Amino acid sequence: MRITIVGCGSIGQMLAEAADEMAEVKRIYLTDVNKEKAERLASKMKKAIVVENVEEELYHCDLVIESATQEAAKSIIPKVVARGVDIMVMSVGALVDDEYRKGVTEKAAECEAKIYIPSGAVCGTDGLRSSSMGKLDEVELIAIQGPKTLSGVDYVINKGIDVGKLTEKTVVYSGTAREAVQMFPKNVNVAATVSLLGIGFDRTKVTIVMDPDTHSNSYELKLKGEFGEMDCSTYNVPAPENPKTSYLSAMSAISALKRIVRNEWIGI
Ligand SMILES: NC(=O)c1ccc[n+]([C@@H]2O[C@H](COP(=O)([O-])OP(=O)(O)OC[C@H]3O[C@@H](n4cnc5c(N)ncnc54)[C@H](O)[C@@H]3O)[C@@H](O)[C@H]2O)c1
Repeated sequence: MRITIVGCGSIGQMLAEAADEMAEVKRIYLTDVNKEKAERLASKMKKAIVVENVEEELYHCDLVIESATQEAAKSIIPKVVARGVDIMVMSVGALVDDEYRKGVTEKAAECEAKIYIPSGAVCGTDGLRSSSMGKLDEVELIAIQGPKTLSGVDYVINKGIDVGKLTEKTVVYSGTAREAVQMFPKNVNVAATVSLLGIGFDRTKVTIVMDPDTHSNSYELKLKGEFGEMDCSTYNVPAPENPKTSYLSAMSAISALKRIVRNEWIGI
């Protein structure tokens, strides 16, 4: 299999290095707006070459992995699926717009391309997926994040909250997943994943709490429905190079790639 990784940051790097060790992966194309980053990464790998953009080797590529930004994802998903190439999306918030999502999923079906969305930084998506086969009444995601994770977020700054000065746990957002993924594009991609799997962006409730004493990115996923109730907590260690990203999200991308290349589906 030949793969292209778009975005060689925190997730892209860990994924590329893991893919380099997978016997089933024969060639890895790397691209990043910061070309030096892609070149530095490629120099440490056996199977990688740097390309200018995702289109350059699309005819020779079986799977594109987006690990860049919501804007990048929005721009590349239509191009990739229209060529019948599969894509794994990490910036899941890119799929919040209903018209856009309908357009790309229909195009993917028409061109026989698959869109993969790993579970990312949250646990419990297996239960959510299964329970959504019946009636689901409530889905709530509570994110508890530290000052480093929430610093520089426009929504928080515009509310007059100085995350560096908070001394106790404070709710900085409470509302729909639709608004949360747009206002916190780098923080709560998991809200998009949970919405897509469950009851949608408007019925999924998201609460974001800033905890001055935590260094972890925690998520609590709570469900109520015909199946019963679920309450699943994840206490994530931040990725070494990007405190907004949880280590587990890179691991989930690596594990998704492993399942795809080996065609092994356990616990789906
Ligand atoms: N699904 C999840 O649970 C989850 C969890 C964490 C992060 N994410 C998302 O995954 C994405 C990657 O996360 P990260 O921590 O690796 O980010 P990062 O900031 O460490 O790396 C992103 C890389 O993408 C590059 N880039 C930006 N725009 C680009 C473009 N148009 N084309 C090519 N490269 C581009 C940047 O130069 C950077 O090297 C982000 O959107 C992040 O919000 C998703």
